[in-house]
Amino acid sequence: MRIAMIGTGYVGLVSGACFAEFGVEVTCVDKSSEKIAMLEQGRIPIYEPGLEDLVARHKAAGRLRFSTELAPALEGADAVFIAVGTPTRRGDGHADLSYVFSAAEEIAKLLTHPTVVVTKSTVPVGTGRRLRRLFDQLRPDLEIHVASNPEFLREGSAIEDFLRPDRVVCGVETQRAREVLAALYRPLNLIETPILFTTIETAELVKYATNSFLATKITFINEIADLCEAVGADVQQVARGIGLDGRIGRKFLHAGPGYGGSCFPKDTLALLRTGEMHGVQLRIVDTVVQVNEARKRRMVKKIVDAMGGEVAGKRIAVLGVTFKPNTDDMRESPSLVIVPALQAEGAELRVFDPEGRREGEKLLPGVVWCADAYEAMAGADATVVLTEWNVFRGLDLERARSLVRGPVLVDLRNVFDPERAIRAGFRYTGVGRGSIRPVD
Ligand code: UDX
Repeated sequence: MRIAMIGTGYVGLVSGACFAEFGVEVTCVDKSSEKIAMLEQGRIPIYEPGLEDLVARHKAAGRLRFSTELAPALEGADAVFIAVGTPTRRGDGHADLSYVFSAAEEIAKLLTHPTVVVTKSTVPVGTGRRLRRLFDQLRPDLEIHVASNPEFLREGSAIEDFLRPDRVVCGVETQRAREVLAALYRPLNLIETPILFTTIETAELVKYATNSFLATKITFINEIADLCEAVGADVQQVARGIGLDGRIGRKFLHAGPGYGGSCFPKDTLALLRTGEMHGVQLRIVDTVVQVNEARKRRMVKKIVDAMGGEVAGKRIAVLGVTFKPNTDDMRESPSLVIVPALQAEGAELRVFDPEGRREGEKLLPGVVWCADAYEAMAGADATVVLTEWNVFRGLDLERARSLVRGPVLVDLRNVFDPERAIRAGFRYTGVGRGSIRPVD
């Protein structure tokens, strides 16, 4: 099998490399000659564990190629995947589909044989149908089969998610599209992965409904965490207690400062717009979006309160700024709200993040970047954990306590064992840990 993957962003690159792992011949195409040159030299533009090795292996085997030219990549391709960005359109929350449609127009212009064109980018319900009409208009002479194959890749574990998915969803409307997608994903039959064939609209909606449901689950536990603090309960035990009910499930019940990233904020908003366009109220998702936005801001108050109500002139160590660990991605990260708000109140911020500095330097002006957590904490009046990087779990809290000026520790990811932190001399505040009592 042979495919072309258009777009070497996060989704395109991971999907391209993983299809090569399935034995498919893949050409990844991108307009940015800079990106393609980097990839040809074996350098990966994003941080994703395992990706560099996977790309190197399949590049060396000749199964994975990179190019700025679409025409040669289309030659003999059984399928063309569109994996370009669909950012939130400025001002109205709709997904911006201009990159998807310009890729589709180019494909239509250059194709010389019948092919399946698959959207991998997250596109609003109805996009497949619009693409179908576009191809009918531009190339009435050619059989172009449209399909939708949404991705469910988490940053930081994207390769595992692709190679061992919970399910694969394929929206198809022709037998040919079904056959090609079934053949591409055939290696997953070995591990008995459910492969769902649906209509294109259904596949498109599965993606948005999945992310909106997960965002709802997180927001639910975040509100329960607030209640735990008020009534003296422990949200982690509540999460375990409810999560062991098979109907609920244990995953995505970690309370924190609010969800961020490139998908949940964008996809929840886009689903709301789709509902509006069709006259369907999605009140739960609407509330989730509002509660999550407000939560990021409320975390600032939590930090200020923990510091006695005043942060002007105080030094705060921030551990982690990426929206989650194992990524350098800062998109919609709670840190982008919390850090500037603390600066605006007059605090001096010292920041450490294992991978976030490069992006962070652009997005968080005026902070002092440190080489590790201890350096950030040196002389700090308070320490705030914003991302649950593993390296923080292993921190020597006694050593850290000897370095800080003030003992306030605000752990917005519940990384630390509160009793251990308190024993080391910290004044500990977690999320939803209302049952913590200071030790004697
Ligand atoms: C998500 C989806 O999981 C993935 O399937 C989709 O295709 C893209 O969007 P990603 O954004 O990489 O993946 O990260 P994810 O691990 O889902 O976390 C999203 C956000 O939710 C992060 O800010 C994370 O910190 C937060 N989160 C997640 C919680 O606050 N609590 C949880 O229990 C889980």
